[in-house]
Amino acid sequence: MIERESIFLKALNKETLPIPPIWYMRQAGRYMPEYRAVRKKFKNFLDMCKEPDVCCELALQPINAFELDSAILFSDILTIPDAMGLDVKFLEGEGPVFGNPIKTAKDVLNIKPFDSDSLSYVYKAVGNIRSALPKHIPLIGFCGSPWTLAAYSIEGKSSKDFLFTRNFLKENDDEAHIFLNKLTDACFEYLKRQIEAGADVIQIFDSWANLLTEDDYKVYSLKYITTLIGLLKNDAVTKNIPIILFSREPKVQLKTIMTSQSDCLSLYWSMNDIDLNEVKNKVAIQGNLNPEILLESNEVIKQETLKILQKFKNYPGYIFNLGHGITPNINPDKVKFLTDLIRSI
Ligand code: CP3
Repeated sequence: MIERESIFLKALNKETLPIPPIWYMRQAGRYMPEYRAVRKKFKNFLDMCKEPDVCCELALQPINAFELDSAILFSDILTIPDAMGLDVKFLEGEGPVFGNPIKTAKDVLNIKPFDSDSLSYVYKAVGNIRSALPKHIPLIGFCGSPWTLAAYSIEGKSSKDFLFTRNFLKENDDEAHIFLNKLTDACFEYLKRQIEAGADVIQIFDSWANLLTEDDYKVYSLKYITTLIGLLKNDAVTKNIPIILFSREPKVQLKTIMTSQSDCLSLYWSMNDIDLNEVKNKVAIQGNLNPEILLESNEVIKQETLKILQKFKNYPGYIFNLGHGITPNINPDKVKFLTDLIRSI
């Protein structure tokens, strides 16, 4: 069990702290030479995710390198569609590719029911990471939002505009909702198992929220996130676990997203026009430095970081993070510089 003096948990509990807790989305990954050394032993990325000891080593790499205030499970959001028989592969330079995507309404009805036992390798990784971490460092478990998982599963790959998916929604609205319901139930079962295995906090990644118009966002994404959070908040095992919601550039106002009842909103880097008074004392905030700033000089990093720290200075429950994940082209020295800088101010 995690010790309650973790500053990350305090911030999630909406406490004002002199120095914000720090962690980074995609903190374990290709930008780290330690990661690349392990990664090259595996051809397929998901095969690596299926090795709990390797996941443990990878999750700890950024903690050891930068002394961050939280670890995140090493895995991927696409484990669920893979477990539902959609056959996910990660191809060099192409990102995820589905061998068996959802192409028709019938595919939704025939999809293999999610069996949470089939992702035991993930829960084992959670248990290993939790045991290896110091007691005051929380472990974040995670899943993709039902909408984000549906978008990948229908498109069958990453895409700029997800045109096939958008047409699918227009033509097969009932089945789209059946699929989103199935994914919501799968996410709940999956997160509950991660929490039972030792996850202290949960983050939901709505990485494709930006594809939807304001109205569609409410119907296809927010509705299912709200259901998922409701399930977690009403289950004896999961109800006290703080939930962070990351939405990539959503077209709706923060107060609308807050109806999801998440404990913390993770702000995308372009969301800089927000009225903090609307959300203050109701929700913790995480983010929202543009990850590309880490490609700039230390002087620019310092200027931009000071702006963010100033913005959230007296905000009750602010967690320092980037506005999206660290990309492979970032120099780990910059991550070290940024982390030390925040703690020195
Ligand atoms: O520290 C960590 O955050 C590592 C754990 C983690 C990974 N993916 C490992 C990973 C987490 C939390 C994720 C989440 C994830 N996966 C998201 C949501 C976050 C976001 O960026 O919006 C999404 C959309 C995915 C899907 C995904 N996984 C894509 C599109 C890709 C390929 C492109 C890319 O960014 O690399 C992956 C592969 C992936 N997931 C890698 C890692 C370290 C790189 C794989 C490799 O080494 O070849």
